[in-house]
Amino acid sequence: MEIRRALVVIAVVAMAAAVAQSAAAAGMSYTVGAPDGLWDMHTDYADWVSRRTFHPGDNITFTYSRELHDVVEVGKAGYDACSSANNVSAFRSGNDVVTLAAPGTRYFLCGLTGHCANGMKIAIRVVDAASSAGGPNASPPVASSGRAVGGLGAVMMMGVQALSLVAVVGGMAF
Ligand SMILES: *[C@@H]1O[C@H](CO)[C@@H](O)[C@H](O)[C@H]1NC(C)=O
Ligand SMILES: *[C@@H]1O[C@H](CO)[C@@H](O)[C@H](O)[C@H]1NC(C)=O
Repeated sequence: MEIRRALVVIAVVAMAAAVAQSAAAAGMSYTVGAPDGLWDMHTDYADWVSRRTFHPGDNITFTYSRELHDVVEVGKAGYDACSSANNVSAFRSGNDVVTLAAPGTRYFLCGLTGHCANGMKIAIRVVDAASSAGGPNASPPVASSGRAVGGLGAVMMMGVQALSLVAVVGGMAF
């Protein structure tokens, strides 16, 4: 009975780990410009996005001094023209979290005079997980920001292992 109880605990822990893993696979959080830069006048944002792939459910956080910058979400025309006149939304907390809810391209710039023209703007292409190959944000992925591969399959494998463990223990104990 002692062994059985211990192994049931192990099985439950394995299942909890599987659930935690599946939750982690639901989205990634990125700090814009990090780790080499932030939301500032020095970071090459085209380079930064080219080394990452964004999926629905991911978050990006703009971190900056609110005395120096802001964040304005605009459409493509505003992005191209560095104009925040017809903005989608504007942020100035210094730590603005934006959820990338759906596939498509999101455009952000700093609305302070001259900052966008100096390169402080970013276009983020959000793609479905299944269609992440190809396109401007595609290659090559950064290892540290990779998502769990085959999350659901791994969860199911762990669940099956946990259940068979319980079955084996049940057979042993009785
Ligand atoms: C994204 O941000 C929202 C709102 O702050 C939060 O609820 C969610 O857990 C975040 N997702 C990730 C993947 O960090
Ligand atoms: C965003 O647009 C509104 C009008 O829709 C404007 O009043 C506001 O000043 C704009 N915000 C910024 C930061 O440009």
